[in-house]
Amino acid sequence: MTKQEDLNGVKGVSILGSTGSIGKNTLEVIHHFPDHFKVVGLAAKSNIDLLEEQVRTFKPQVVAVEDVEKARVLKDRLHDLAKSGRNSVEVMAGPEGMKSVACHDETQMVLSAMVGAAGLIPTLEAVHVKKRVLLANKEVLVMAGELFVSEVGKRGSEMIPVDSEHSAIFQCIEGGTKQEVAKIILTASGGPFLHKETSELEKVTVEEALQHPNWKMGPKITVDSATMMNKGLELIEAYWLFGLPENQIQILIHPQSIVHSMVEFVDGSVLAQLGVPDMKLPIQYALCYPTRLNGSSPRLNLAQVGTLTFKDPDPEKFPALRLARAALQKGGTYPAVLNAANEVAVSKFLQGKIKFLQIAHLVEAVLEKHQDNGSGMTLLEILESDRWAREEALAWKA
Ligand SMILES: NC(=O)c1ccc[n+]([C@@H]2O[C@H](COP(=O)([O-])OP(=O)(O)OC[C@H]3O[C@@H](n4cnc5c(N)ncnc54)[C@H](OP(=O)(O)O)[C@@H]3O)[C@@H](O)[C@H]2O)c1
Repeated sequence: MTKQEDLNGVKGVSILGSTGSIGKNTLEVIHHFPDHFKVVGLAAKSNIDLLEEQVRTFKPQVVAVEDVEKARVLKDRLHDLAKSGRNSVEVMAGPEGMKSVACHDETQMVLSAMVGAAGLIPTLEAVHVKKRVLLANKEVLVMAGELFVSEVGKRGSEMIPVDSEHSAIFQCIEGGTKQEVAKIILTASGGPFLHKETSELEKVTVEEALQHPNWKMGPKITVDSATMMNKGLELIEAYWLFGLPENQIQILIHPQSIVHSMVEFVDGSVLAQLGVPDMKLPIQYALCYPTRLNGSSPRLNLAQVGTLTFKDPDPEKFPALRLARAALQKGGTYPAVLNAANEVAVSKFLQGKIKFLQIAHLVEAVLEKHQDNGSGMTLLEILESDRWAREEALAWKA
């Protein structure tokens, strides 16, 4: 297929998590290219005020709300559309609603942008009906990488990364064959606490952890960036996306977030992808792949940026990196347990129930207790490990 043919006609897009940071950025990109994309489905957990606005602007065929009562209220609010017969939208609730959004006949691409484990099932359902999945929801690959990648292959579906680092690697890795790749280098901003001493991290507040220096994101990933668990999750994500051994994936601190990641080849040549830190760029790349369109994002001015710096991460200060790498090395259901324990720990931190440094302590304690029976990785086993780890994490006491 030529590049021109690939973007012929208007492509239908469903967005799982349309009210979040990635979801809103995706709708901005779609709004910019009405001749190329139309919104078919939208899904969120409970923010029906924003969903209503999005429905009236983008006129999807179906909208789903996880919360059943909120779905009922949204249906009432959108009654005028149904009555007019024009642009009527089907309002659905719960898992059935998520499935309808992910699998709608008019949808060609599903932007998976829910936060956390909630996105796993609807994203898998999209794969099962051969949709092209644009993956922002990294927790899907952390929990169920082996199963997910195998289903994508078996069903003839496609997976395009949206995470800026993985989008960068996806673009650079085409510079050689798989055998010619020496390593991939995932860059990390280092988050808001890069320049703090470990002793100072004892007392950091939720507000401080939510002040990311370069990116505006949802609260869970922002806290993950502060602990650097985000980079640990991205390490596992990269492992499944690019199929390289874990010891060929390096993490490098780059506080300016301009070099989004790099690929080093066996001859010593390194390819990097650069751009302003704006998620609209990798989102547009994934939507348009393999074509590039003239976008609306601000352009990179390297003279203005001036200096780009790099250094190795401090393993003492950021134990989450060690925990994620160890979970990946152990394999099986360890990454799913890491993810679930981390989701609970971050939620406890955001509610003021534990301190910042206790996030990693809690995750480590749950991982230490976990016993993988090594019997294989079915969806049921993954979901059971996720459930067990959440229970343990909720019960954890310092
Ligand atoms: N933000 C970024 O720049 C960025 C960059 C790279 C990767 N990512 C990844 O992209 C994903 C989304 O991140 P985000 O920052 O956009 O998160 P966010 O702003 O918190 O948005 C999360 C979205 O998921 C929806 N959601 C949450 N739980 C749900 C459930 N049980 N059922 C249905 N919908 C649910 C939320 O709906 P409500 O609004 O109704 O709660 C919201 O639309 C994460 O996996 C993150 O790691 C994000």
